[in-house]
Amino acid sequence: YFTAPAALTSAQSSADWDYESTDYDWDNLGFKVIQTDCMFITRCSQYGNFEKGQLNPYGNIELSPSAGVLNYGQGIIEGTKAYRRDDGRTFLFRPHESAIRMQIGAERMCMPSPSTQQFVDAVKLTALANSRWIPPAGKGSLYVRPLLIGNGPILGVAPAPEYTFLVYACPVGNYLRNGTQPLTLYVEEEHHRASQGGAGGVKSITNYGPVLKAIKRAKEKGYSDVLYLDSVNNRYIEEVSAANIFLVKGKVIATPIPSGTILEGITRKSVIDIAHDLGYQVEERLIEAEELISADEVFCTGTALGVAPIGSITYKNKRIEYKISSELISEQLNSTLVAIQKGIIEDKRDWVLEI
Ligand code: PLP
Ligand code: COI
Repeated sequence: YFTAPAALTSAQSSADWDYESTDYDWDNLGFKVIQTDCMFITRCSQYGNFEKGQLNPYGNIELSPSAGVLNYGQGIIEGTKAYRRDDGRTFLFRPHESAIRMQIGAERMCMPSPSTQQFVDAVKLTALANSRWIPPAGKGSLYVRPLLIGNGPILGVAPAPEYTFLVYACPVGNYLRNGTQPLTLYVEEEHHRASQGGAGGVKSITNYGPVLKAIKRAKEKGYSDVLYLDSVNNRYIEEVSAANIFLVKGKVIATPIPSGTILEGITRKSVIDIAHDLGYQVEERLIEAEELISADEVFCTGTALGVAPIGSITYKNKRIEYKISSELISEQLNSTLVAIQKGIIEDKRDWVLEI
């Protein structure tokens, strides 16, 4: 059992923590597992509340072969980022939203969930304990991954008798982006990510395994990722494997309406608010894949991906190309979001939380 240094458990902000910069090649961060120092862990029974929890050294966890998560996929993930500003101070972006989304997902998957305060404290503590892994300003961020799993043993299909809430973190750079190359998407017509009544609207771990084949096939053909269609009509666009999608036509921005089959991204919500602030009209509605042909620009949003313009989309063997320039509406939305995160534009909605 690892005892966190007193300075760390009592620290109120990252300024209290003796930050030593880590000798790491920050210029070449991708999106891969890098072992950091600590992870947060707590458990509870099916009926109970999560215990206070503790920081442990980052490492393997022991699981029963009959753990609910291993056999029946009872698990929810979250994703949030800690980043460093030019002055060295470190911040999280909307961790309370992640906490609430985990609670909604946990309810869907018959799991108890940490309270919003417990969740935010655990995310903060994990980021703080690994603060030497928060890259220098402008070089990337610390991706914080809260994980809620049914670890108790269960043989019949039923909720597990015990749950683990764990938070680990990893420094990351760009997700999916290959240098300065724009993203290329492939519209998948065979496999679907989610269906009505399923768990596509929550961040269940069961949403990712079934699309690995589609992602693998698209990557083998040189695409960055897959754009999914609705499972009933195979006609309306839904989202990308780990990001939401937006289309721009003139001054109107459109994005699929969340009706249970797409994840309501926190970046998506933030971008919609920013777009309204900047005077754009935003439509949340059904969007036919055919509309991709006449769109002026298309972009994706997600914690890992940020706000990313799309260079081309291939639909029914036709490649639709989009112009990439600094004039794009997505660039304006992205620079506003980043300026709020960096403290350059006023954070009037309390989105950023100092660690
Ligand atoms: N859609 C899916 C399937 C995701 O996994 C993610 C990533 O979290 C998103 C959308 C974007 O959500 P957010 O902006 O909250 O990261
Ligand atoms: C995120 O953006 O937070 C994600 O969860 C992406 C991840 C699935 C790679």
